[in-house]
Amino acid sequence: MPNVVVVGAQWGDEGKGKIVDLLTQYADVVVRFQGGNNAGHTLVVDGEKTVLHLIPSGILHPGKSCVIGNGVVCDPEVLVTEIDRLKAKGFLKDDGQLVVSLDAHVIMPWHKAIDIAREKAMGEGKIGTTGRGIGPTYEDKVARRGVRIRDLLDEARLARKVKDRAALAREELARLGATPDLDDAAIVKKFAELGRRIAAYATDVSIWLHRALQNGKQLLFEGAQGTMLDVDHGTYPFVTSSNTVAGNAVVGCGLGPTAVDYVLGISKAYSTRVGGGPYPTELKDETGERLRKIGGEYGATTGRPRRTGWLDALALRYAARVNGLSGIAMTKLDVLTGFDTVKIAVGYRVGGKVLDEMPSDPELIERCEPVYEELPGWSEKLEHLRTWDDLPPRARAYVKRVEELVGVKVIGCSVGADRGETILVENPFRVGKK
Ligand code: GDP
Ligand code: IMO
Ligand code: MG
Repeated sequence: MPNVVVVGAQWGDEGKGKIVDLLTQYADVVVRFQGGNNAGHTLVVDGEKTVLHLIPSGILHPGKSCVIGNGVVCDPEVLVTEIDRLKAKGFLKDDGQLVVSLDAHVIMPWHKAIDIAREKAMGEGKIGTTGRGIGPTYEDKVARRGVRIRDLLDEARLARKVKDRAALAREELARLGATPDLDDAAIVKKFAELGRRIAAYATDVSIWLHRALQNGKQLLFEGAQGTMLDVDHGTYPFVTSSNTVAGNAVVGCGLGPTAVDYVLGISKAYSTRVGGGPYPTELKDETGERLRKIGGEYGATTGRPRRTGWLDALALRYAARVNGLSGIAMTKLDVLTGFDTVKIAVGYRVGGKVLDEMPSDPELIERCEPVYEELPGWSEKLEHLRTWDDLPPRARAYVKRVEELVGVKVIGCSVGADRGETILVENPFRVGKK
């Protein structure tokens, strides 16, 4: 039974949520394995929009389970709000649909305060984080002083951890010139209460998933962020603090690599990035503004305008390599309608040379000028199209050229935000091991 991993192949916001929601009909379980509520995954079903930050994008399908794995950093307040909002809209009627790992690390108030204070102190050179406390929470995890979901379920243990960790946080915050309101007793009370709200969902996810696999269930892993934001493989230090690549899917939920059969990379038909860091194909001109406007490129989490640019074949080929992509789904093809020509970066010019692979040094990437290939554009609207053959020949030629440059098959195109506005050429769940 195939299990499929979905990851962002660019800088995040590729439309992973939409594709995961679409593919959930073929899966039994959807698993988030990294990141936290820095993610904003948008689902549109029959015009009704839902933005999810923590809960996997399969949750709109009754009867399908959604799992938050140990690799996720979880802000329990955000989780409870998301649960309540979904219930108010008539979803998540069965609490058994949601499963949360006891080992997931908890984003505590000091993590958010430190994230924000550090960004402020960095000034111009800041990362441009989402300010959700993601980095400091992963830091505490690796430093072996984190708070986990299981600690919220034992008030005495939680009180001990809060006492030790809050003292350290106060010192760091004072150094950063921040004076947050961190009252230990109030934090313990609030987080123990949040723990009581989450207790019904909390379990040993590794065993839970292992049993699901033994019972022949099909898993769909949902990545957050994107390859170029991976802490090891992205444009360090302008990255998030987790491994966003497909290899982390199993680590972040307690399974082994043999559980994965197919890796689907999601890429926009152009590119976007939120926050700082190198981005060779960025367009700071009218064309960039036009992409932002037509594509509605404003962050689903922070509302910040996204940086926009042409598609970068080097970045995509890199993503194919570090994720082991089996296929690509190209989203937002409709946004390119109406451009006279469309461009794809096929090389980087730097220091008198032309590179044809993404360099590993981000400072070098910063100095690269893209070498573009220009293809004729198309003027036809695409939203209503449902098969590959329906697509205008120039749109098809564009997709085919990307496929050729990257060396990975484009198995689907998204032509609008709605679940139905999709052309699926090949279903990863039908293909299996690849
Ligand atoms: P994610 O973080 O990868 O799940 O992506 P986001 O939800 O942050 O951003 C993708 C945005 O594009 C959302 O507003 C989606 O509703 C929208 N979207 C997804 N696919 C398409 C598409 O094919 N066409 C258009 N026009 N919008 C899309
Ligand atoms: P989804 O899952 C786009 C970016 C931030 C910043 C950097 C570090 O919706 O694709 P962090 O708060 O993680 O420490 O910020 O990563 N970033 C994202 N950009 N989409 C996301 O998630 C992102 N999550 C984090 O803008 O540049
Ligand atoms: Mg997003």
